[in-house]
Amino acid sequence: MIHICKSFVQKFYTTSHLTILLKARSIHTNLFTKTSCNCVIALTQNSSLRTEQTCKYATESGDKKSPTVPAQSFIKDALLEAVAPRITSSGNKITVVGVGTVGMACAFGILTQNISTDVALIDSTEERLMGEMLDLQHGSQFLNSARIKASTEYSVSTGSRLCIVTAGVRQKEDESRLALVQRNVNVLKTIIPKLVAYSPKTILLIVTNPVDILTYVAWKLSGLPKNRVIGSGTNLDSSRFRFLMSQKLGIAPESCHGWIIGEHGDSSVPVWSGVNVATINLQQINPELGSDKDPENWNELHKKVTSSAYEIIKLKGYTSWGIGLSVADLASAILNNTGNIHAVSVRVKGLHGIKRDVFLSLPVILGENGVSDIVKQQLTQNELDALKKSAELIHEVQANIIF
Ligand SMILES: NC(=O)c1ccc[n+]([C@@H]2O[C@H](COP(=O)([O-])OP(=O)(O)OC[C@H]3O[C@@H](n4cnc5c(N)ncnc54)[C@H](O)[C@@H]3O)[C@@H](O)[C@H]2O)c1
Repeated sequence: MIHICKSFVQKFYTTSHLTILLKARSIHTNLFTKTSCNCVIALTQNSSLRTEQTCKYATESGDKKSPTVPAQSFIKDALLEAVAPRITSSGNKITVVGVGTVGMACAFGILTQNISTDVALIDSTEERLMGEMLDLQHGSQFLNSARIKASTEYSVSTGSRLCIVTAGVRQKEDESRLALVQRNVNVLKTIIPKLVAYSPKTILLIVTNPVDILTYVAWKLSGLPKNRVIGSGTNLDSSRFRFLMSQKLGIAPESCHGWIIGEHGDSSVPVWSGVNVATINLQQINPELGSDKDPENWNELHKKVTSSAYEIIKLKGYTSWGIGLSVADLASAILNNTGNIHAVSVRVKGLHGIKRDVFLSLPVILGENGVSDIVKQQLTQNELDALKKSAELIHEVQANIIF
């Protein structure tokens, strides 16, 4: 007996296709699979009615339809002698929630740099999700045996070591920042508990803006320890700063050392006291570095950093590649347990005299346990004051959030 979900049939096969398929293949044991629309598809062991792309009709345990475990066929039976069940977990799984411009740039960076070979995509918009999954899957040959899955169901994220959240809504015309914050808090409420339920050992990396506030919200919603909830923070701002510094000095960005800390946004703090090249502190050469009296106007670099996103959005409508590469860099540090130092958004209460319970970026050591240490930077009074101001601004908005 064969039960087939009606919408499945309508979408992928005409009735005549189905009849031909069923007649053409001998029917042995029925494999029952519960679908997202609560119908039961009885698949014949010798037929391949489903394809990897039919996410809407995916099994609840995503592994059953992994590309490494294809539906059985008589050709496969003739080719292979089964010896033992395959292990489908990779140990390096990453889930990306939100397949907008940012989410896909993150996924692309992670896959093309071989940071993970096991990527699950989740979004609430199914058509876009399917399109992005197929597009990436079709490049599988050029990736390192990547397994790419997608579903609107969170079970697809099961066993992720890292969950990256880029899902969110954009600002509406005349909408206040606070109203946007509340709308994205509501989005996170639908995402975070499910991610943690399917991957209790995961590290959460929040990218959705305003990232510092939403990282605090994710930490609250998740119940995870503070070392496992991180915001992408000023890793990107620091990279933008180093790029601009490299342009000014004619030195590669990797050899230009400068850190932007605090809020990922207008109140971010450039640590002028530590800007250096090969240990040579630029403030020792130019004591006015970064100040209004600076003859070389280095402060312009920081202004460019804070206005970068606005400028790019004005030019192309959104930002994607910079943040995608920045997140891939963070994912690499976490999955490969590198111990590299990155400026990311972490809980800073009690550090640098900050009394508020807020998340802000500071340089931290990243590894497979998330944040293991925070670097105690020796900041000047101006830098400390700016950091505290950043904390106050964030706390002001945070205080009005309804959980
Ligand atoms: N932290 C940073 O440095 C940084 C940089 C760039 C962008 N961002 C932020 O990243 C976020 C995403 O930007 P984008 O350009 O990709 O936006 P986008 O509109 O292109 O994509 C957002 C995606 O989220 C999905 N989504 C919305 N609600 C959802 C839900 N409840 N569950 C699952 N999916 C849901 C949408 O369907 C959409 O595909 C924005 O908040 C943006 O401000 C952060």
